[in-house]
Amino acid sequence: MLFGYWRRYLKGAPEYLARHYWWTYLSPSGVWFFDHDCVINLILFGKYRVILNEVSRRYSTMTCDRTLQLTCAYGALSPTLAQSSNTREFHVIDVASIQLEATRSKLKANFPKVNMVRMNVESLAYSNDSFDCIVIFFLLHELPAQARERALSEAIRLLKPKGQLLIAEYGENLSVHWLHRFTPWCWILGKLEPFLHDFWHSNLTQQLAQIAVQQNKPLCSHSETSLFNGFYRVIEYRV
Ligand SMILES: C[S@@+](CC[C@H](N)C(=O)[O-])C[C@H]1O[C@@H](n2cnc3c(N)ncnc32)[C@H](O)[C@@H]1O
Repeated sequence: MLFGYWRRYLKGAPEYLARHYWWTYLSPSGVWFFDHDCVINLILFGKYRVILNEVSRRYSTMTCDRTLQLTCAYGALSPTLAQSSNTREFHVIDVASIQLEATRSKLKANFPKVNMVRMNVESLAYSNDSFDCIVIFFLLHELPAQARERALSEAIRLLKPKGQLLIAEYGENLSVHWLHRFTPWCWILGKLEPFLHDFWHSNLTQQLAQIAVQQNKPLCSHSETSLFNGFYRVIEYRV
């Protein structure tokens, strides 16, 4: 009976999500618990508002007629982007219905045209060159390497010429931040975030540049804000 109850929430979820993140993204009690600013802030060492403000500041300078947020995020990201004066059409995809419902409840009726669809970020049912702006907030480190490669490839495919990609994520682990050298913390984080270690040691910009060249859409520019001494970063790319 319990399995039947759970199956409803796990249905259609990628294996890595159901296995490693069911407790935070797929279980109703997890969604209720984590979707509080104080909890998100605790997880992000009190830097949630700083990161969100930087995403929002950069977003406000971008051309965002048609924006796609790749997967839901706890907190105020979706309402902030949807309410921005430069958003005309706002799309959010996520593979988990429970996440889409939670985000929908935060997007009130007076927001610009909002479209929420259940999709896997690794294979998106939009045509090439269909968005001016794509936002990815702390998703990439939660994906296994191959899924991350496919998600980035989809993001580049969907961007219009001169389109922009805005990513908030952990910074590269160059072992300079005290948290990178605090072994017990790295061990705990490694248990909770099994793909973070790989992400920490990958070169995101290089990977994106390679994907973009393969799709004949070379990256024209990128600029990065380092936050919390490089532990987090917000990066803006243009194709
Ligand atoms: C954006 S990430 C992490 C966000 C961040 N920890 C937060 O909530 O602020 C979490 C979301 O990604 C979604 N997700 C994970 N893998 C996915 C995939 N392959 N396709 C679509 N959504 C996915 C999860 O369902 C979840 O809603």
